[in-house]
Amino acid sequence: MLKINMIGCGNAGRTLGRLWAQQHVLAIGGILTRSLASAENAAAFIGAGRAVESVSEMECACLYLIGTPDDNIEQAGVALAAAGILKPGDIVFHLSGALSSRKLAQLEEKGAAVASVHPVKTFADPAHAAETFAGTFCGIEGSPAAAALLADTFTAIGGKVFTLETERKALYHAATVIVSNYQASLMELGTRVFERAGVVRSAARQIMEPLARETLANIFELDAVRALTGPIARGDGNVVAEHVAALASWQRNYMDLYCLLGQIALHLARQKGTAASSSLDIIENILANPIPGAQAH
Ligand SMILES: NC(=O)c1ccc[n+]([C@@H]2O[C@H](COP(=O)([O-])OP(=O)(O)OC[C@H]3O[C@@H](n4cnc5c(N)ncnc54)[C@H](OP(=O)(O)O)[C@@H]3O)[C@@H](O)[C@H]2O)c1
Repeated sequence: MLKINMIGCGNAGRTLGRLWAQQHVLAIGGILTRSLASAENAAAFIGAGRAVESVSEMECACLYLIGTPDDNIEQAGVALAAAGILKPGDIVFHLSGALSSRKLAQLEEKGAAVASVHPVKTFADPAHAAETFAGTFCGIEGSPAAAALLADTFTAIGGKVFTLETERKALYHAATVIVSNYQASLMELGTRVFERAGVVRSAARQIMEPLARETLANIFELDAVRALTGPIARGDGNVVAEHVAALASWQRNYMDLYCLLGQIALHLARQKGTAASSSLDIIENILANPIPGAQAH
């Protein structure tokens, strides 16, 4: 079994460490966190590994996980490079969704292969996360040798691995933010518009819930084109114009958002093909020029 040293072992690190140890995928070596007590806790949770107080106390291993918060990854990599324990061919990786393996580039000068693996999962409760990890999508990028070995290592504990492009990792992470965090933003925007229309927040939540759940279910059971209903899908330009005017007279930035998102809906409506293309052309013009003669907001 290959051995892994863990630098930073909080929610995500503990979860993965427990799975690798329990499923005999990797031997857990040294565990380093900001305090010995926390590293000892991590070792107890994992059921393996030895708490250490510095990188130099770690025994040699083939794999190094940097499981610190994103802001500390580079600094942890620098400390690892300076410790003089890395051998050519060792693999060093982190778990950030936002940062790429380039944050560890300085370790390549020591002959290490660097990578990142982003498990698309919430690790707020490590015991629960370990129980539910199977089926988690894990985006991997980095040196081909490191990526191949890490793919095996994460697949062995039930991860569903997929490849990310190093140079486009920021876009990948932006996508995850759009489909998760921005759903909350969209629901909040909808709630504010309901309130403006005289529907109180508590009632708005109740009205929104079946609408939002059914739309999301349709998107994944069918697809976004077939899930799209409403005035843009029907080619109902007068309704779109009324929405735009109502929003413009209250909050121009909300109108801008309505128009930008409407342009994506229009793209779906054209693929759907149920509305006359002349009606969709009219809507395209309304969305692109919501207030004729006005500068873009
Ligand atoms: N949590 C999630 O849902 C999730 C999901 C996907 C990916 N990730 C990624 O996983 C990584 C870790 O996140 P997390 O949520 O597990 O963080 P976390 O729970 O805050 O744990 C961070 C760990 O790093 C240690 N640490 C901090 N600075 C250090 C340093 N300079 N040297 C050594 N150890 C250090 C902390 O030590 P102490 O224990 O002493 O505080 C702690 O053990 C991040 O890159 C994050 O983006 C997290």
